[in-house]
Amino acid sequence: MVSRVIPVEPFDLVIFGGTGDLARRKIIPGLYRRFWAGQIPEGSAIIGAARSDMTEDEFRTNARSAIAEFVAKDKQDPAIIDAFVACIGYETIDAKGTAGWAALKKRVRKDVVQAFYFSVAPSLFGDIAERLHKHGIATKDSRIVVEKPFGRDLASAKALNAGLAQHFNEAQIYRIDHYLGKETVQNLMAVRFANILFEPLWKSEYIDHVQITVAETVSVEGRGAYYDKSGAMRDMVQNHMMQLLCLIAMEPPYHFDPDAVRDEKLKVIRALDPVRPEDIVRGQYMAGNGQAGYLEHCEDASSKTESYIALKANISNWRWKGTPFYLRTGKRLRARTSEIAITFREPPHSIFDDAEGWRENVLVIRLQPNEGMNLMMMIKEPGPGGMRLTQVPLDMSFAEALGADGADIPDAYERLIMDVIRGNQTLFMRGDEVEAAWAWTDPIINGWEARGDKPRNYDAGSSGPEDALMLMHRDGRRWREIRE
Ligand code: BG6
Repeated sequence: MVSRVIPVEPFDLVIFGGTGDLARRKIIPGLYRRFWAGQIPEGSAIIGAARSDMTEDEFRTNARSAIAEFVAKDKQDPAIIDAFVACIGYETIDAKGTAGWAALKKRVRKDVVQAFYFSVAPSLFGDIAERLHKHGIATKDSRIVVEKPFGRDLASAKALNAGLAQHFNEAQIYRIDHYLGKETVQNLMAVRFANILFEPLWKSEYIDHVQITVAETVSVEGRGAYYDKSGAMRDMVQNHMMQLLCLIAMEPPYHFDPDAVRDEKLKVIRALDPVRPEDIVRGQYMAGNGQAGYLEHCEDASSKTESYIALKANISNWRWKGTPFYLRTGKRLRARTSEIAITFREPPHSIFDDAEGWRENVLVIRLQPNEGMNLMMMIKEPGPGGMRLTQVPLDMSFAEALGADGADIPDAYERLIMDVIRGNQTLFMRGDEVEAAWAWTDPIINGWEARGDKPRNYDAGSSGPEDALMLMHRDGRRWREIRE
């Protein structure tokens, strides 16, 4: 299957924080891949803007080294790299002062799509938004892209939204949650809403529970200063896990249209019950399996920040009442795997005597790695000896099913940046959605702080704290094993 590349219109993209880690790892390599694929037309310009006093040539050299490090070798074509780098410029900018803004104004054209990527600390969002206007750079059609973390609680998220709203309207603001840019995450909507097969069963009458797992093997080493102020709840649950839950739980939107999709997600977030303290387990990895513990990575020997969360969420609406959603995510776990497992209920009556052989149907959607789907089905165990039942997987690997293109799944950032240029906000979070997610998260975090709650320990390289097992055991259920 050959993927279609539809070129976007020529654009000027200014990357504030252009010398930062995200630009180096994701934004520049992602733009290069789109350029390599022929999606970025000639005449487009990518302008790095940062505090560093750097020449354009130095910035271009950095871009070349980012491509060398983060782009697959088979896409590193010297002629294409030269042409790409020729589109790149750089301005030294003082986000809180006046230096550099007049020069930036001269560079940014008014007759092409204009996008400003705020790849900077949220504390600078307001300053940059204000200066883009004060210096007459932004227009009423400019788009701005803002990264997570979008606030650290409801109050700060509201303040950020209010700050941006002074200069840009909601249709101009693209809040990134990179999980929405993942092909397999978008595929959740395709699987649900482009097939008739699952939707009639997609409700508490037929679904016993849902498990959403995002397990990582990485530690917080190197980013302990940020992470220790955040923790798994703010870093993963409030945004990425919440988005996955929404895509599984939402009603079918009337159209695949930005506000139609986001309206439905918002309804899910608002229908979430407050989480009871006994329905949540926090964990922190300690040294184990030859790996260092969290406290060595975060530089605060008494830190109570969680690197793991498991929780039970209930959605109070007609579709989901009685079907819990169990979420878990953590660092330094035994394998890197993200999946959604939907466990169906028992058939109402069994005509077979082999009750022991029976297992629930489970639909597993693997988000990463080995993207694909797997439906656990009951069949007859082959051979003589009566009607014995056994469970087998109906297994589909997207890479195999889609051929070479399936194996070449684009990075989330590639898709999202092109959506900004196309002016499509479907895969970006709306302000009210972010605020609703914080409104659900805040009481949980405030509760821990008020109680002085300490996370449970788990060994680095394990499946997480023992108590997380209990969260499901007591409901007569089990987590799926964490493995690649
Ligand atoms: C980021 C978090 O948003 O997502 C990180 O800040 C996390 O802590 C990362 O590791 C996970 O993203 P991915 O794409 O590797 O699953």
